[in-house]
Amino acid sequence: MSQIVYLNGKYVPLEEARISPEDRGFLFADGIYEVVRSYGGAFFEMDAHLSRMADGLAALLIGGLEPAALQPVAHTLLERNGLAGADALVYMQVTRGAAVRGHAFPNPPVPPTVYAAARQFQPRADAIRGITVITAPDDRWSRCNIKTTGLLANCLALQQAVDAEATEAVLVRDGAVLEGTHTSFFGVFDGVVRTAPADNYILPSITRRVTLELCRANGIPCEERALLLNELEAADELFLAGTTMEIMPIVKLNGTPVGTGRPGPVAGRLLELFRARTP
Ligand SMILES: Cc1ncc(COP(=O)(O)O)c(C=O)c1O
Repeated sequence: MSQIVYLNGKYVPLEEARISPEDRGFLFADGIYEVVRSYGGAFFEMDAHLSRMADGLAALLIGGLEPAALQPVAHTLLERNGLAGADALVYMQVTRGAAVRGHAFPNPPVPPTVYAAARQFQPRADAIRGITVITAPDDRWSRCNIKTTGLLANCLALQQAVDAEATEAVLVRDGAVLEGTHTSFFGVFDGVVRTAPADNYILPSITRRVTLELCRANGIPCEERALLLNELEAADELFLAGTTMEIMPIVKLNGTPVGTGRPGPVAGRLLELFRARTP
């Protein structure tokens, strides 16, 4: 059975989906995206993803789409692909649309290109063992709070991790470890959970926000304050958070064991609380 995707108002087999070579997503990465997780057919934090998409569209001045319209699309994609009761990911992307190439926005504006697809998702089993991570220089631009499709710096850093047989790279800018290529980054120092402040240098990650909420609701001390690279060796624990990784303990950073070298109790407790919060 071929995968059915959504493109500009139609549900079509993936092989039949066609996008213009003049699409500004293709030419300039002029677009944004979201990845939403479904647990057995129920979406986690869908409203938050759609609201972040609305913020991204507003930041990039892309009009012509009300993100709420993608909620029924996401459900239909699960149904049309036999994923209604499955663990799945729905990918949604909006670009400024197709127009003769030129840096300035098309005038008058053209309709945005709207694409969405669902696929089955096998959650990672490594939370029990923990994962290995490297650090890499943060070569991204300075508006990382917008979830644009311009992910080349993220891809290059993740490839460095893969080449080093690690699972993720965490990005370092001016001595501060900000976030992973597709995850948020946390440390635990003397029992206090810490993650970088939500400014323009990190994505306002939904899992990051949920993790902080779980800390606050369960008496786990937490703070949003920079994590410096040279402090990390003093961390009791390090972990990642994200839609695809949930909460993932880091057991080795740049080849050196983190804390005891095993997943720590705080990440373990947060994963338990997180799982209780998902559908
Ligand atoms: C750079 C970056 N940071 C953090 C995250 C985690 O965000 P969320 O929890 O919303 O999935 C992602 C997700 O793709 C990301 O790309």
